[in-house]
Amino acid sequence: MKHWTLEQIPWNRFDPARVDPEIVKLVKAAAMVEFNGGDYATYLNRVFADDAEFRDVATDWAQEEVQHGQALARWAKLADPSFDFEIAFRSFTAGYAIPLDAEQSIRGSRAGELVARCIVETGTSSYYSALMDATDEPVLKEICRNIAADELRHYKLFYTYLKRYLDREGLTGWRRLKVTLARIGESEDDELAYAYFAANHPDETYDRKRFSRAYARRAYAVYRRRHVEKGIAMALKATGLTPNGWLNRWLTALACRFLQFRIKKLNALNA
Ligand SMILES: [Fe+2]
Ligand SMILES: [Fe+2]
Repeated sequence: MKHWTLEQIPWNRFDPARVDPEIVKLVKAAAMVEFNGGDYATYLNRVFADDAEFRDVATDWAQEEVQHGQALARWAKLADPSFDFEIAFRSFTAGYAIPLDAEQSIRGSRAGELVARCIVETGTSSYYSALMDATDEPVLKEICRNIAADELRHYKLFYTYLKRYLDREGLTGWRRLKVTLARIGESEDDELAYAYFAANHPDETYDRKRFSRAYARRAYAVYRRRHVEKGIAMALKATGLTPNGWLNRWLTALACRFLQFRIKKLNALNA
């Protein structure tokens, strides 16, 4: 059961005067990744082959992710009528694929897989909260509000199963931390850069460095301290650490400084 539908979005309130073209680029890229959620469900269904309950949950989850892609694509088309989602999405999936034939989690264990899932939902929930606060366009604001709420629910859902699998399989604190750090590190990998390229520069050739910089410059700019702080709390919780203590304060300060530094550098490069 989805918590909202595309019909509930107030499309007629779309205000072209409040559209920020830089944010349109981010929305187009996000639509690619979200719409690809079905593929990730295929992977999760294989990794959790004998857990029928979790497979049902993963199937419903993917439908929500696909709907995120549909909503974002429809908004992007309003903002830029020349945007061809089908062509862009085909280009995205032709160049970027997740391991659909895996029999085991690429994280080494099911508990590890669920830690990684929690980190991804942490990232998306803070990203859409930040995007919601960064845009003045009322329809996009509403879409982001809905998506951010879904992403937070997804985090809670995967966290519930994480606790179950931690009881069953066990996972040392060190391995749990390793999965968290690995998954955070992957946020600068190909997926987002390729989505940004396929969505915004379909007629050009993929250049990883160029498009990961272009994506990062725009994405990092939407974050404010409160989004970072909340995201770090969620990531710490998924890692089994205290969410809101000194470690959060320290990491938030560090992450905000990193973001500022990167934005400055990327602006200077005109990425
Ligand atoms: Fe999503
Ligand atoms: Fe999600």
